[in-house]
Amino acid sequence: MHPKLEVRGVTKTFGSGAGSVTALAGVDLEVAPGEFVSVIGPSGCGKSTLFNILAGLDSPSTGQVLLDGAPCAADDLLGRIGYMPQRDLLMPWRTVLDNTILGLEIRGVSRREARLEALRLFPEFGLEGFERRWPSEISGGMRQRAALLRTFLAGRDVILLDEPFGALDSLSRAGMQQWLLQIWETHRKTILFVTHDIDEALFLSDRVYVMSHRPGAIVDPVSVDIPRPRDYEVTTSVEHVERKERLLELLRPTREVLEA
Ligand SMILES: Nc1ncnc2c1ncn2[C@@H]1O[C@H](COP(=O)(O)OP(=O)(O)OP(=O)(O)O)[C@@H](O)[C@H]1O
Ligand SMILES: [Mg+2]
Repeated sequence: MHPKLEVRGVTKTFGSGAGSVTALAGVDLEVAPGEFVSVIGPSGCGKSTLFNILAGLDSPSTGQVLLDGAPCAADDLLGRIGYMPQRDLLMPWRTVLDNTILGLEIRGVSRREARLEALRLFPEFGLEGFERRWPSEISGGMRQRAALLRTFLAGRDVILLDEPFGALDSLSRAGMQQWLLQIWETHRKTILFVTHDIDEALFLSDRVYVMSHRPGAIVDPVSVDIPRPRDYEVTTSVEHVERKERLLELLRPTREVLEA
């Protein structure tokens, strides 16, 4: 069986000549159908650049992206992969409900039908009772859940989540991580997830890829063969701490650059 998503030797350079920036210097990774895979790496190493390429919003300078085994240009990828960008991008002039149905509307579903479909998922996403509120009236965690619901409703089987919980405090974050695993287990999506947080990556993922400091390149993935469903207590287990040490070790060349 093909991987659901595969990245082969992707590089990306912005601009040309003296002012050019190489954001990605050779990224290889794959995600199997239904897998939850994370990418972890320091700020500026090219994670969001990689996601923009996977979503078809930008093209690689060299290398290939394959979806279901077929090489895809940016135009082929556009609209085929669900993407929750780093900022939640809720539209302030739309209610919470109408923000969540954007992907459905873009697909041509009528507003009435889209609203009905979204409303069915409001309880599961912890948004019941807030349908008619404006984004400015709900909490940060709720905004993230609304943006996630919008991404899920767009109906793609591969979903990219770029630091969805980056702005939350650690308590809300742990709650959201457990909730996300439940959602993923019920809806059976393939997820590629970006985070700066090693505990978060290990708790959520089947595999964790480490990206080196800019220009980003991928170093070996670390497998996380902890049975599911997982309880948050696994993050204090000996195996978890060993994997964490391994990831810290892989990230060390990066830390040396940052601390120099
Ligand atoms: N459109 C662009 N034009 C020029 N340079 C860009 C562009 N987009 C990103 N870059 C540069 O590419 C590098 C990688 O940026 P990117 O946003 O992918 O990093 P990141 O790993 O997502 O960082 P963070 O963890 O802070 O979100 C940075 O040096 C950034 O300045
Ligand atoms: Mg980013």
